[in-house]
Amino acid sequence: MKVVVIGTGYVGLVTGACLAEVGTEVVCVDVDQQKISNLRNGILPIYEPGLEEVVTRNYQNGRLAFSTNITEALPGAEVAFIAVGTPPGEDGSADLQYVLQVAKEIGTHMTGHLVVVTKSTVPVGTAVKVNRAIKEAMLERGTLIDYDVASNPEFLKEGAAVADFMKPDRIVVGVNTERAQKVLDQLYYPFLLNGHPIIFMDIASAEMTKYAANAMLATKISFMNDIAGLCELVGADVNKVRKGIGSDPRIGHRFIYPGIGYGGSCFPKDVKALVRTGMEYGRSLRILEAVEAVNDDQKKVMFDKIDRHFEGDLRGKTFAIWGLSFKPNTDDMREAPSLVLIDALLQAGALVRVFDPVAMHEAKKILADKVAWCTDLYDAAAGADAIALVTEWNEFRLPDWQRIKARTVFDGRNIYDDVMLHKKGFTYYGIGTTQHT
Ligand code: NAD
Ligand code: UGA
Repeated sequence: MKVVVIGTGYVGLVTGACLAEVGTEVVCVDVDQQKISNLRNGILPIYEPGLEEVVTRNYQNGRLAFSTNITEALPGAEVAFIAVGTPPGEDGSADLQYVLQVAKEIGTHMTGHLVVVTKSTVPVGTAVKVNRAIKEAMLERGTLIDYDVASNPEFLKEGAAVADFMKPDRIVVGVNTERAQKVLDQLYYPFLLNGHPIIFMDIASAEMTKYAANAMLATKISFMNDIAGLCELVGADVNKVRKGIGSDPRIGHRFIYPGIGYGGSCFPKDVKALVRTGMEYGRSLRILEAVEAVNDDQKKVMFDKIDRHFEGDLRGKTFAIWGLSFKPNTDDMREAPSLVLIDALLQAGALVRVFDPVAMHEAKKILADKVAWCTDLYDAAAGADAIALVTEWNEFRLPDWQRIKARTVFDGRNIYDDVMLHKKGFTYYGIGTTQHT
């Protein structure tokens, strides 16, 4: 089967490479000429563990190709995935301009029957708009070719994208024709071995499933962050509470880690977009409004702890920031909580020394010369008054504390042994834990 993936970002590139890996012929298309030419030279636009290997192998064996030309890519394809961005518009709703532009281009250039699948995260009703855009483009060129539209939201996590795609918890597909169902069932067949399920449903429900999933996960995190705040006040330890509640399988251990707020390209924008959809239909999604408000506050929690510890006098003080990306194993800086903390520290007149194992080049585009760029965690800690652990990269988990002169540690992810650090003479602040001074 031949497939075209339009939009070669996180989702498009992982989708294209993983489909090629199981034998599908894939062309990944993007408007970004630099990105496509880099990919042809083996340079990936993102850091994603395991992806380079899959891309290189399949590019070399000819199953995966890269193009900027949708006209050349479409002939012979049975499926076209739309995997472009859906950033938040000014009012918080998902901006569909890129999705609808691609739909129009598909309508203008398709040559035979095609299943047009939206993989981007889009609000309910988008498939109807995609359908209309394709139809109008075909009418404009004076041709009518048979096609189907379908919705196939993506659930991969950055940092684990290849594994998530190859071994999905589930594949959700919204269809309204038997033909589309058959084609997509066949396309995904190799991923269903070992019991990974494919769930077919109507298109509106598939579109809604994606937002509901992200909103539920964001809710779990904000709930735990709220509980963490209360734990600090009442003298409880959220790490213990987390284990205590997570062992109930109805709650589960995953996505209940408190921290300094969820970031990334999706939770913040998808929660906003779902709240916005509610408003459009006259329904206020009060839980999600609170989830967003709690998260905004949580991104400020570490600065507040630092400010209190130094009694509001941060001018001229130096802080080491360990980790910049919004989570480990990615270089993605979108909505990273580190940026909120660094901005607040700089505003307060502090000096900031940063280190991240892979996100430095992305972070430099945002922070430029406002911070000192360091070679490792010890370099960042050199001369610092305190350490702030922001992203829980593995290499930060067991530092040689003897090499750290600062006596105060702010642990935004609760990865350090507070009792051990206290014994070594550090003042330790976690999230939702008793403070050791
Ligand atoms: P991205 O910004 O990394 O990539 C989008 C790509 O689309 C860019 O390379 C851009 O140049 C390209 N593009 C834009 N217009 C185009 C056009 N007309 N023709 C061809 N290419 C075009 O975005 P992403 O992170 O991959 O997200 C894509 C969608 O998938 C979003 O809706 C997002 O919410 C959703 N999603 C993302 C993730 C994730 O982990 N990043 C996970 C699940 C779902
Ligand atoms: C998230 C979802 O997990 C994916 O299923 C989804 O496909 C994706 O969004 C998307 O739609 O783009 P991602 O944003 O890559 O994936 O990363 P997560 O692992 O979900 O982390 C998101 C944020 O939540 C990070 O800032 C992370 O630090 C934070 N988080 C996560 C917590 O604070 N606590 C937790 O217990 C888990």
